[in-house]
Amino acid sequence: MKPFEIAEGIYSVGVEDWNIRDFHGYSTPCGTSYNSFLIVDDKIVLIDTVKKEFADQLLANISQIVDPKKIDYIVSNHTEMDHSGGLPRVMHRVGEDKPLYCSKMGFKNLSLHFGQKWNYRPVENSEELNIGKRTLTFLETRMIHWPDSMFTYIKEDKILFSSDGFGQHYAGPEKFDDQIGEAVMGHAKKYFANILMLYVDRIKQLLNSIGELGLEFNIICPDHGIIWRKNPGKIVEAYARWCDLKPKRKAVVIYETMWDSTKAMAEKIAEGIAEEGVDVRPMHLRAWHRSDIITEVMDARAVIIGSPTLNNTLFPTIMDFLTYMKGLKTKNKIGAAFGSYGWSGESVKLINKELEEMNIEIIDPGLKIKYVPNQEGMDACFDLGKRIGKAILD
Ligand code: FEO
Repeated sequence: MKPFEIAEGIYSVGVEDWNIRDFHGYSTPCGTSYNSFLIVDDKIVLIDTVKKEFADQLLANISQIVDPKKIDYIVSNHTEMDHSGGLPRVMHRVGEDKPLYCSKMGFKNLSLHFGQKWNYRPVENSEELNIGKRTLTFLETRMIHWPDSMFTYIKEDKILFSSDGFGQHYAGPEKFDDQIGEAVMGHAKKYFANILMLYVDRIKQLLNSIGELGLEFNIICPDHGIIWRKNPGKIVEAYARWCDLKPKRKAVVIYETMWDSTKAMAEKIAEGIAEEGVDVRPMHLRAWHRSDIITEVMDARAVIIGSPTLNNTLFPTIMDFLTYMKGLKTKNKIGAAFGSYGWSGESVKLINKELEEMNIEIIDPGLKIKYVPNQEGMDACFDLGKRIGKAILD
């Protein structure tokens, strides 16, 4: 991407990763960007870098504005490799002795990744650094979403560099919220569901402290995707809402199937749920990526899981999904299990065990059907769906 000015003397110099489709297990059908920001003041500051393989592109972008050697300070808001992988190449060009500002945990993590060779300047929460007409304030945001994470804020311009916070995995011609419009919200929600959902309590604390400090944002610059300049309050308000994990009248029926019996059950259960006037999405695990399913799960009241019994246990993709969901710590859910079987039929019991471990309230013992559901079996599925629908409306 060509560098562009965000505000007077502040440039976006990062890169797009147009063709990435799998970001450590998260599907990225629109690619992503690794945003990096250059502030040209009395001192010249670079905030965050990019993935290692894009470092030369970042340096070429910086060179269109200033010679990288003129950069005085580097700020690392986050150690994860999509933002720090380019540091060795950048430090080599900028100067290995240039001060590198990071959180105290960032110092530890960067040292573990890259050794002690650089001029690290670990900062305290709220520590300030004057760079001329502007002041950078470093705000610790531990576990949003790594121990080292921090934000950098320019109080004079009210611009926040928010690391992964408020980001989206999106690469496109649009660079700002006013250019992309409402479409950005789906990408932001998916990002929140897959990266941040398990940290909602910490995010709430952060949003509260932002309110207490009276911080205002004219522009929010995340490290991925679109920059929020028209209405930065919109994404902050969305985060406050998403943090509540308040369920909608919605069910997600997530299933695997071998010979379409569990599929037939899933669709009939979904019909029963819909009969009660509840929004329902049947999602076959080989048709939907787990990162898209979890986005639907985030605001659903009911999570209904169906698996055939295979070799006395669950179908492997079901366990993959349940493991993923467990890690993301969904809240406020009810659940139920179902599945077809041939002779042993353990799947329902095993799913229930997993749901219990996730503190999902099991509202029905579950339904298992031998081989192929007959009319009686289909009626039982429909009735189960209706019971789930009623429970959601309760
Ligand atoms: Fe975009 Fe946590 O890295």
